[in-house]
Amino acid sequence: MPDPLRPIPHRRFDALIIGAGGAGLNAALRLASADLRVAVVSKVFPTRSHTVAAQGGVNAALANVLPDDWHWHMFDTVKGSDYLGDQDAIEYMCREAIPTVYELEHAGVPFSRIDDGRIYQRAFGGQSQNFGGDQAARTCAAADRTGHAILHTLYQQNVRARTHFFDEYFAIDLIRDEEGAILGALVLEIETGETLVIEAKATLLATGGHGQVFRTTTNAFINTGDGMAMALRAGVPLMDMEFYQFHPTGVAGKGMLITEGARGEGGYLINGDGERFMERYAPRALDLASRDVVARSMVTEIREGRGCGPNKDHVMLRLDHLGADVVHRRLPGITDICRVFLGIDPAEQPIPVFPTAHYAMGGIPTDRFARVVAPARHGPEEIVPGLYAAGECACVSVHGANRLGGNSLLDILVFGRAAGTDILQYVAENPNHRPMRDADIEPALTRLGRWDRSGEGESVAAAKADLRKLMEDHCGVFRDDATMAEGVEKLKALRQRVEHVRLKDQSRTFNTARIEALELDNLVDVGMATLMSALHRQESRGAHSRVDYPERDDEQWMKHSLYARDGDRMDYKPVRTKPLTVESFPPKARVY
Ligand code: FUM
Repeated sequence: MPDPLRPIPHRRFDALIIGAGGAGLNAALRLASADLRVAVVSKVFPTRSHTVAAQGGVNAALANVLPDDWHWHMFDTVKGSDYLGDQDAIEYMCREAIPTVYELEHAGVPFSRIDDGRIYQRAFGGQSQNFGGDQAARTCAAADRTGHAILHTLYQQNVRARTHFFDEYFAIDLIRDEEGAILGALVLEIETGETLVIEAKATLLATGGHGQVFRTTTNAFINTGDGMAMALRAGVPLMDMEFYQFHPTGVAGKGMLITEGARGEGGYLINGDGERFMERYAPRALDLASRDVVARSMVTEIREGRGCGPNKDHVMLRLDHLGADVVHRRLPGITDICRVFLGIDPAEQPIPVFPTAHYAMGGIPTDRFARVVAPARHGPEEIVPGLYAAGECACVSVHGANRLGGNSLLDILVFGRAAGTDILQYVAENPNHRPMRDADIEPALTRLGRWDRSGEGESVAAAKADLRKLMEDHCGVFRDDATMAEGVEKLKALRQRVEHVRLKDQSRTFNTARIEALELDNLVDVGMATLMSALHRQESRGAHSRVDYPERDDEQWMKHSLYARDGDRMDYKPVRTKPLTVESFPPKARVY
């Protein structure tokens, strides 16, 4: 509760952006360039946001290397989504991809180049020419450090545009008024523990994903689903959370990403018998089939006893036939990863790989203007006044049940920019701050108060380790009713344990246990959203693969799921199958 002798300071901005990855910074740039007062809150220094780790590239039908067309990109994305993606948003994203990449180029992103100076593009999974024909090459790359190049450029441009950064501030919760409008957020300065209320006319959640809910992941420690959990607590259900992507090529046993670009450059997978096993599962696309298909094929090989190594628990990615020049020039980042973490040169030795948790297709439901939509208290879905979401924490939905590689950087850039554009208009139409009462701040302060204590109890790290193992065991690549139902019960018990974790960790010089507890609280909520949504969807579609319901069931399940925290409730809403200007792509069997 506020101390009457020491009231919480307030700062006012036109727009508050929570998260400083590609989505947040692209939105901020648009707003700051139009002279709005923009606050970006980030729990890490902005250039440490997870966009920095994106390797392979960003999709746009530039046709620099092979013929291409945004309609083909749209077809591939709809098919890749296993027909669950909303086709209006997909059309918008694929069309906007082209100007978005040129805008980045002009902002200074150091893309790799082909001989005539145009942007280099590589092949990625699920890409085709001419609606399912030959392999396309659509992924614009800066070697295998594309996210790094983009994030640093966007940060520099924001500094120039005078965006106001609150670095190493943690967002506790959104603040909303009695009518459900979002007024800003309560944030905590990590170094000092001081709280601050940031009032804003519009608030954008751009907090990224929640890969830390799984034990083996490509995601950084910061990816704890903070924005998704804030939305849940503000009464916004999360959409399509059962669709979680396992990237085929994580370093076995460790989880670090080996970019799909490695296969795009000509790398391929082999099993313990030395076979190119993808020939059996995707005879045309082979190793560049869609990610869900490749990940399942790898796990099937291992389950059937054809894995590599003494425990036959992984497969191998071969790049040695490509030559040291291609491997070291096009893939310098993964060359470093292999040297540092495996002690090998990938130009000479194969890389041990296994699917690793990578990306949330689901998230906070938005329209294609990045406005958050949620069921009204009484009645149909409505836009939540003043609230936007973009990037991995949002679900537009352009990825449906399975995202194509290279569409993630695209999503954050296109919809970050769309959020900026819409916020400009919203602020013009709503020039005044809505009044904020002390009572509006109380729920956020109460949340913080729950974690403002010391004493006995188990450590945050121990509870988090159990959560991550639980999710891996009960909600992995292959799923079934009994395993997931048991997972839900275990997670309910863990939810109780988390209430009593120990917050003062004397073994550390710098005590971050409170922030870690707040993050764990968020992870538990998004973990429950994932498990509950997966348990209830009785079909296999995209990344959600059930051994007890092995077929896609368009009649029953061509719909988005919605998980509400209040009572762990599930609801559903229709897929938007109508694009903006072109014909729909109707559902078909999905073969590669
Ligand atoms: O494989 C990769 O480089 C990852 C790209 C993506 O997830 O879009």
